[in-house]
Amino acid sequence: MAMIVKRGQVPKVPHTEFYAKPGVLALEEIHGTYGFSGAYSRKMHVRRYPTEQVKPPKPAGFNLSCSEPTGLPLQPFHLRTARFPYGGDVLRARKPLVFGATTVVSVARPDKSTPQGEFFRNGEFHELFFVQEGEGALSSEYGELPFKALDYIVVPKGTTCQLKLFTKKAYFLIIESVFPIQFAPHFINPQGQATLMAPIVETEVGLPRLGEPRDEKGQYSVFVKHDGGKLTRLSMGHHPFDLVGWEGSLYPFTFASSDHHSISREIHTAPPVRQTFQAGSAPHSGFSICTFRAQVEGWHPLDIPAPYAHYNVDSDEVMFFSNTSYGARKGYVEPGSMTFHPSSLPHSPHGDAAERSKAARGKVSDYLAVMLDTFFEPLHITKAGLSCADKEYPLSWHKASLGAGLSPAA
Ligand SMILES: [Fe+2]
Repeated sequence: MAMIVKRGQVPKVPHTEFYAKPGVLALEEIHGTYGFSGAYSRKMHVRRYPTEQVKPPKPAGFNLSCSEPTGLPLQPFHLRTARFPYGGDVLRARKPLVFGATTVVSVARPDKSTPQGEFFRNGEFHELFFVQEGEGALSSEYGELPFKALDYIVVPKGTTCQLKLFTKKAYFLIIESVFPIQFAPHFINPQGQATLMAPIVETEVGLPRLGEPRDEKGQYSVFVKHDGGKLTRLSMGHHPFDLVGWEGSLYPFTFASSDHHSISREIHTAPPVRQTFQAGSAPHSGFSICTFRAQVEGWHPLDIPAPYAHYNVDSDEVMFFSNTSYGARKGYVEPGSMTFHPSSLPHSPHGDAAERSKAARGKVSDYLAVMLDTFFEPLHITKAGLSCADKEYPLSWHKASLGAGLSPAA
């Protein structure tokens, strides 16, 4: 995140003597990326370093490893993720469904807040949440960050946090990347602002509000995810949210999907115009995240608003359908459906969707979907993903053609 934010108190000159409490030297910590050269924040702890463990680290007793089924042929997938039951806090409810070397895509359907005295830190991946249902707040050392349905939440790798629910249950799509997740860099000018042609405005983000430091002793368990989904439990003797201030460009923030301001043109436009976020160095690594939301469909008198059949041989594509209005998959997806199209498989609108889409010409669409396209990274389905897969999906285009009265050979 290019915007530098300051909360609470920090010394004007970095790494110099600073006292938030009389006679107590505040201790500085750098939370950084790309060695000491990327985005970072400096954090001032009221009195103790975050290195003070009071018991030996232990395995958490559960993990978030990605377990892959064997012997599956190449195929497209339709995962009905809304069919997982609600249950547990956001950490224990998390189900990795699709993964690659630098990417993990999960859903979580929690019905509890993070237990008191417990915290989570993703030590191996940056995270992007899409809130399909629910309302709450991400509490972290950076402060309290409220979120609501249809928001994105960006959480930098290494952030220590708790997730509080204000609703009885919630439903999250969670995308993880080994690389920082940020607004698409080609929409950002060298000074760090979104350009005036971009679909996003960086100042529309929601930022954490920092309260008083939790200068408290006690028993605090921090579950750290590391090394391929392992979880280690650290036992801290002081509350992790003990900052008197922080300053920098690495912090959690929210971005409402409705604040992705769509760009339209006279004829159908390829997905990159819908890009909101990016991880890695496009087009060589990482992924792009596109927000498919309300926009004016092409108004050319002969425009076909439905997409073309396509396959991008350098990208595996995952698409999460927040609602069912996306015409190309109408009748096949349900809220929370996730399609996964491996790079080498062309995919097209179903049945007569292209023909039907002509009625949308020049009108404002109301679909909402989140799409992830990797760059040169094959993805794999997990056993959990397969457990909610629609087994008919590979033949669904054929069946749609029959149902639409088209020749299956056409
Ligand atoms: Fe696609």
